Amino acid sequence: MVQKDFLWGASTSAYQVEGAWNEDGKGLSVQDIKKLPENTSDFKVAADHYHHYQEDVALFKELGLKAYRFSIAWTRILPDGTGAVNPKGIQFYSDLIDELLAAGIEPIVTVYHFDLPAKLAEQGGWSNRATIDAFVHYCNVLFEHFGDRINYWLTINEQNMMVLASSAVLAGTKTLQENFQENHHMLIAQAQVMKDYHDKGYPGKIGPAPNIAYINPASSDPEDVLAAQRFNAIRNWLYLDMPVFGRYNHQAWDMLKALDATPIFAEGDAEILAAGRCDFIAFNYYNTNTVKAYPADAEMLEGDQQGGFGIPGFFQSHRNDHLPMTEFGWEIDPVGFRTTIHEIYSRYHLPMIVTENGLGGRDIVEDGAIHDQYRIDYLSAHIREMEKAIAEGADVFGYCPWSAIDVISTHEGMRKRYGFIYVNRADFDLKDLARYKKDSFYWYQTIIQQGGLDS
Ligand code: BG6
Repeated sequence: MVQKDFLWGASTSAYQVEGAWNEDGKGLSVQDIKKLPENTSDFKVAADHYHHYQEDVALFKELGLKAYRFSIAWTRILPDGTGAVNPKGIQFYSDLIDELLAAGIEPIVTVYHFDLPAKLAEQGGWSNRATIDAFVHYCNVLFEHFGDRINYWLTINEQNMMVLASSAVLAGTKTLQENFQENHHMLIAQAQVMKDYHDKGYPGKIGPAPNIAYINPASSDPEDVLAAQRFNAIRNWLYLDMPVFGRYNHQAWDMLKALDATPIFAEGDAEILAAGRCDFIAFNYYNTNTVKAYPADAEMLEGDQQGGFGIPGFFQSHRNDHLPMTEFGWEIDPVGFRTTIHEIYSRYHLPMIVTENGLGGRDIVEDGAIHDQYRIDYLSAHIREMEKAIAEGADVFGYCPWSAIDVISTHEGMRKRYGFIYVNRADFDLKDLARYKKDSFYWYQTIIQQGGLDS
């Protein structure tokens, strides 16, 4: 049983849902210019939410959403990442926020979801400390314009995946040290923004939004147990220890030292990191990971968000035979969701909101209907375990599955869908972009009305 004001919601991100990639003064982001996997759509039109936002919010209202988590495209607000504000960008999000509030839906804003302005990327992106200042400036612009209407701000979506799975998410290749130097700069930017937000006395709350997947050992061999603890440290806890405690996780730091990948601290960095604190923890959960020990002379392996990693001398991903998989090869672990919730709460004792969880599948339309029972099964199993975690004492105040409406997947295009609402287009055929309610739409509507599975 969840509390009465529980935020039953759903999520999207700007570049995956909006389209209108070059309209109304928007600048290019790294997602607009990245090399796409073969046979996969670009993000130019996406679900065309930019032009359909009123229709979409009306559908979200019908669905019964109490919250909608979306991201703001940095390049709509500041086309070059810094400099003059684009009034049309401010207007679009102001209108969207007002539309949501009028529909009784709490807007939850992610400030940055994988779409760094291309102009900043040209100048070195997060390797350049100027990007820290640009991010802080951008966030302060958002706070000034929307701070009176937004109660929940999320700083950076899945920073851990931008660092560890950068080829899948950003189509980037860098050395480990370069990745963790960029990571360090993002951590500083985030800390400064959280400090500014608190210092200026805005009424809402702010927190990070990493992808957290509890890591299991492949066996009870102590070397596998240690491997799992280390992957937990560098994949998960690094990204929560910092905004909660203001310091690097010691095991993650030790690994970076062993790998010659420690970031260089500039004067004042430690103080900024210590000064920025989050009010709550938002996290995305798709499944747990399982690892075993990995020899020091093995090769480095980089997977996607949910698996396939290997760091020589530390750990290697291992298929967990206890778990079924989605048709796109991600393991399904609802009990692991409960474990993950408890682990986060035990470590940090802060209120939590789930900002992504869901099933990517190849939906089929039959006479305008989409019978996505597989998605209903996945979501209900996860909600059940979340409700148990809450009953067992964990403080979860919201659940926003991925995704409110079909969006373009990070690296699998339009064929891998997550939404409650179907968008009628394919990777290369835009069709009519009509919206259809899937079976999961009606199912989630009932869950929200009832206040959960157990009510
Ligand atoms: C998360 C991201 O990694 O998972 C989303 O925050 C993404 O942007 C989602 O779409 C699902 O991943 P994918 O690769 O299946 O789209």
